Amino acid sequence: MNVTVLISRSVPTKVDAIGVPVATAGAVPRSLGLSRAALEKAGFDGTAGQTLVLPNATGPAQIAVGIGKPGSLTTNVLRNAAAAVVRAAGKRATVATTLADLPGVDATKAAQAVVEGALLAAYRFAGIKKEPNKSALTQLTLVVGQARSNGARIGSDRGQATATAAYLARDLANTPAGHMAARHIAEKAVELGSASGLTVEVFDRDQLLEMGCGGMVGVNAGSSEPPRMVRLTYTPRNPVGHLVMVGKGVMFDSGGLSLKPSDGMLAMKMDMSGAAAVLSSMSKLKALHCKAKVTGYLMCTDNMTGGAATKLGDVLTFRNGKTAEIQNTDAEGRLVLADGLSLAVEDKPDAIVDIATLTGACMVALGTKLAGVIGNNQGFIDKVQAAAAATDERVWQLPLEQAYRKLLDSNVADMRNIGGPHGGAITASLFLSEFVGDVPWAHLDIAGPMSVDADDGWLSKGATGFGARLLIDLALNFKK
Ligand code: BES
Ligand code: MN
Ligand code: ZN
Repeated sequence: MNVTVLISRSVPTKVDAIGVPVATAGAVPRSLGLSRAALEKAGFDGTAGQTLVLPNATGPAQIAVGIGKPGSLTTNVLRNAAAAVVRAAGKRATVATTLADLPGVDATKAAQAVVEGALLAAYRFAGIKKEPNKSALTQLTLVVGQARSNGARIGSDRGQATATAAYLARDLANTPAGHMAARHIAEKAVELGSASGLTVEVFDRDQLLEMGCGGMVGVNAGSSEPPRMVRLTYTPRNPVGHLVMVGKGVMFDSGGLSLKPSDGMLAMKMDMSGAAAVLSSMSKLKALHCKAKVTGYLMCTDNMTGGAATKLGDVLTFRNGKTAEIQNTDAEGRLVLADGLSLAVEDKPDAIVDIATLTGACMVALGTKLAGVIGNNQGFIDKVQAAAAATDERVWQLPLEQAYRKLLDSNVADMRNIGGPHGGAITASLFLSEFVGDVPWAHLDIAGPMSVDADDGWLSKGATGFGARLLIDLALNFKK
């Protein structure tokens, strides 16, 4: 990330723009030099996220930014407002704002949210171009009074850490499969893990075979790229609990022999977004002083159609000994997760969370703004929901409805890998639940929010990095 974040007690004069918060009622900051009537005439009424750019020939442009009704300020409003300021600033490189100095939100949380919003909105995938894409923003200054400056500094550091994690998750998912195969993400994990205090172990195809990870090997069978499973371990002194995260890392999902149509295949370089979220979040645990032990599994392979590909009707045997009849090779995410979840249970953790771009059905049900969350333990699901609310990486709970379990019945194996035509997010979860034993478990289906078609607040076009910040928050607040 190429943005410098500064904390200042006074409003700098040498910046290109200043983001000035304005609520829907009450006093308008004098520095704007406009009355409420004048703002309203220009179509600005203080609605959260609204902006009005007031150019200034001699000094910084003033950017009025709406923060909604007085008294309604939250970190989510601040994150959105900071993103709106950066978007409105356009080509201006240096931006200051007093958004982190408002009463009503604690200084640390406010600064974290403002930094996250600004940096996430400034994200651009460099691309594989002679002239890489880049954002104009080079410097962000938080203007805060003395009483809030210590808190703001801590929050700003946290915000830079969480935004960097999301940048990494976005970069990994935006990178095409030809440049980001399982071997490459494993190399990245080794490099990042050793730089961020994690133990990193990489398992190749022979080791996976030896370990009985038939889901990984079976999904990989049609590919000329070998699979990789990565185990990341973060071990603080005197851990307060142990959380395992399992990420779907399908580096490219062609559908296998149950081939996807071209349109549906185009985005499938991002089918490793779950693994990207696990790796990115774990890379910040030490810097953020996480008190829980966290183990991560990245289940990385692509899903291809080569001559050795898994055929319809084939039976795969997973790490925990259960078997599945493959009735659709495009339902591959659950097959790699089955091995990851089985291994997670062997670690005897206090909880398991998995994250996966698992089903189009979840996207049909909840759209692109919400991930689905399903699990076997309401207390742990509540913790996931709290992390989602705090980070504005939104989730909606779906039921783990046992009445649908018979849709997975198979004559030749313990189950088949698809359910019926309906309730696909739920039947996929029922499949996963066969591998978690009685460990508290929550599954995040992020097929919907994995990417956006256009810039939208703190989301920038392309991969969203969904889950990186949520998982950090979950881990930081986790105890058994
Ligand atoms: N990776 C896809 C799910 C997906 C679809 C993610 C769209 C992001 C955007 C997954 O492997 C898949 O193909 N699921 C199938 C399951 C079906 C065959 C039971 C689906 O959703 O169609
Ligand atoms: Mn698939
Ligand atoms: Zn997939």
